[in-house]
Amino acid sequence: MAVLLVTEAKKDFLQLLLLGDEDEKMLDKYLERGELFALYKGGLKATVVVTREKKTVFEVKNLAVWPQEQRRGYGRFLVTEMCRLYSRWGTKMLVGTGDVPWTLHFYEACGFKRSYIVKDFFTDNYPQPIFEKGRQLKDMIYLERSLKTV
Ligand SMILES: CC(C)(COP(=O)(O)OP(=O)(O)OC[C@H]1O[C@@H](n2cnc3c(N)ncnc32)[C@H](O)[C@@H]1OP(=O)(O)O)[C@@H](O)C(=O)NCCC(=O)NCCS
Repeated sequence: MAVLLVTEAKKDFLQLLLLGDEDEKMLDKYLERGELFALYKGGLKATVVVTREKKTVFEVKNLAVWPQEQRRGYGRFLVTEMCRLYSRWGTKMLVGTGDVPWTLHFYEACGFKRSYIVKDFFTDNYPQPIFEKGRQLKDMIYLERSLKTV
């Protein structure tokens, strides 16, 4: 398993990145300022974007694993690696996600705890309604994990 930092041609990973955030304009807002990592095992399995939000606070903005490769531990491995890496500079890792039970369950399984909610984030910030298995996303649920104990 290899995790590589991508510094050029980030849009080559667009197909995978759009799984984590289907709005390319929203993606553009954080892709340039964030750091993009790609996980390879044989081929490309997963990507993640991490941004710096405050001096010692980082955020997982986009995590995506190819659908046929999900539930094989790649997502957990990549998030854990990011927490380990950014613990050099940060005290806290955040992640914001829609109110989707299996995604919340995934982050909780990775050691994140629910932190706060941004009401109507998806309806206010995305031009089109976003649906996840038939349910419209409205609020953004933030979770956090301390980087002090990583
Ligand atoms: C969310 C996502 C990144 C998870 O990655 P993954 O590689 O499939 O997850 P892992 O195999 O590392 O799962 C780790 C644990 O999380 C939990 N989990 C993961 N997917 C789950 C699901 N669909 N339902 C319930 N629990 C789940 C389980 O506890 C799992 O451990 P287990 O398989 O031993 O039971 C992946 O499903 C994905 O890319 N989804 C589409 C994009 C997306 O929604 N990204 C999140 C944007 S914030």
